[in-house]
Amino acid sequence: MTMRSLLSDNSRYTETFHAFLKNSTEHQCMLEFVQKTLPGIISSIGDGKSPLNVLSVGGGTGEIDLQILKQIRAKYPGVAIHNEVIEPNGEQISCYKEHVAKTSGLENITFTWHKETSFEYESRMKASKEMRKLNFIHMIQMLYYVKDVPATIGFFHSLLEPGAKLLIIILSGTSGWARLWKKYGPHLHLSLPSSLILAPDIEEILNEAGMQYQSYELPSHMDITDCFTEGNKNGELLLDFLTETCNFSKTAPPDLKCDIIEDLKKPEYSEMRGGRYFFNNSLNAIVI
Ligand SMILES: C[S@@+](CC[C@H](N)C(=O)[O-])C[C@H]1O[C@@H](n2cnc3c(N)ncnc32)[C@H](O)[C@@H]1O
Repeated sequence: MTMRSLLSDNSRYTETFHAFLKNSTEHQCMLEFVQKTLPGIISSIGDGKSPLNVLSVGGGTGEIDLQILKQIRAKYPGVAIHNEVIEPNGEQISCYKEHVAKTSGLENITFTWHKETSFEYESRMKASKEMRKLNFIHMIQMLYYVKDVPATIGFFHSLLEPGAKLLIIILSGTSGWARLWKKYGPHLHLSLPSSLILAPDIEEILNEAGMQYQSYELPSHMDITDCFTEGNKNGELLLDFLTETCNFSKTAPPDLKCDIIEDLKKPEYSEMRGGRYFFNNSLNAIVI
């Protein structure tokens, strides 16, 4: 077996992403931001507008999207909301639809899912000349997957109505991921087009484009202790997600596997507490 990108296998991707969410505070730290900070940010996106148009780029399975929608709804009671989702992975869309069906309090909110990449959406919109105007757009943990990050931000920024906001959540420059991908990216043949894009890179892009923004720190960690037990299923899923490789444990050259396993235990990557290893998964929320 040779090393293969995790993105080439939708089912495995979904399985590893669930393991990542289960073992990390990724969604908890986002939820705290959505509940405590977002209400202030969206306080002027909808003045006098109806419906409110929201766009989720790379919405995944929708957990965070639904919490964002609840905050918008609470801020603008009685106003209709239309939520569009761009998501290329059909399995993620199915899970998203299940979440919507199971979640109460979404009355007055309509949904449209586009099974396509952000670039396909952009091309389709430009070809149809039907440039919709939006009140809130978010790109949460997805910019690693696009080829041209400045152009993508520029395009979605151009869809904002006056007073609207664009939220980007992305790994911070101090996260363990930043170190892991910088050191091992070339050996892993990471197929993420922009895997080394981190919060400081986004801030530089925004500065160059003259866009005003505010950046918030979201501390987060992932318990990777199981990665150090040979044959542990949870550990194998987490290693796949960390390296963006399908079945990393079984397909990586032994030296590479050994080096990564040893590095992941180091304090630059993980903090050890109570006999467990917590990988630094800190994020930034950047609001434009
Ligand atoms: C790490 S997940 C984040 C999902 C969700 N935003 C969250 O935070 O829970 C990244 C998502 O981006 C999607 N994705 C991958 N390539 C994409 C692209 N080119 N355009 C839009 N979404 C993409 C993936 O299928 C996946 O659902």
